[in-house]
Amino acid sequence: MTARLNVNIDHVATVRQARRAPEPSLVAAAMICEQAGADGITVHLRGDRRHIQDADLFVLRQAVTTYLNVEMAATEEMMKVAIDVKPDAVSLVPENPKEITTEGGLNVRTNIAIVRAAVSRLREMGVLASLFIDPDPFQIEAAREVNAQQVELCTAAYAEATLGASGIHGEGAVRANQELRRLREGAALAAQYGLHVAAGHGLTVRNVGAVAEISEVEEFNIGHSIISQAVFVGLEKSVRAMREAIARA
Ligand code: PXP
Repeated sequence: MTARLNVNIDHVATVRQARRAPEPSLVAAAMICEQAGADGITVHLRGDRRHIQDADLFVLRQAVTTYLNVEMAATEEMMKVAIDVKPDAVSLVPENPKEITTEGGLNVRTNIAIVRAAVSRLREMGVLASLFIDPDPFQIEAAREVNAQQVELCTAAYAEATLGASGIHGEGAVRANQELRRLREGAALAAQYGLHVAAGHGLTVRNVGAVAEISEVEEFNIGHSIISQAVFVGLEKSVRAMREAIARA
């Protein structure tokens, strides 16, 4: 079965926040993504509110008719927002205030009590609890221990390796294949534990296919490359191109 695509529209808000202006509208973006075949909308509420604002979540909760996934750190501040908004899913992510983007998966092992409590609160509210983690067996095991329902495997290392993987024998290709193997094994282990498996970070129409071939991957969360392409070809076309790249696998 073709994996679902949630489009991360954070960078529509990045453009808006560059001017603190009303446009471009996040609701309009979400509607175009849905019309173009997106299965859901993802947004990341960051501690510094650099793109998505709290008010956006409430508006999107009303407007999104497919599936709303909110990425956030497992802090008390963010948990309060999640309780108020009640998205369909929350993906718990690590957050380093100085980072440009999420730098890797959550270390569930070293934060086990905090993550367990956050998962339990989300599940009590009927919100799907997903953990954004590296494809590392110790983290997948920890995700099971804290009763998460889903893991989102971080594809950043794979995606970065594909940037230098133009030839099939180049160093980049070797690394990309190693990272792909970690994703494949991680997805299989997570599914064996009864966890739903999502994937995301750094994926593009060129590198998504190999990950979409992993049968356990049920969902993608993809933002930057879709919004980047949208600047040139429009959002609808860009979402459709990603949908097709996933479906081709
Ligand atoms: N999944 C998670 C947990 C993320 O933090 C991000 C980036 O916000 C993405 C997916 C999307 O990554 P990208 O914008 O590189 O497609």
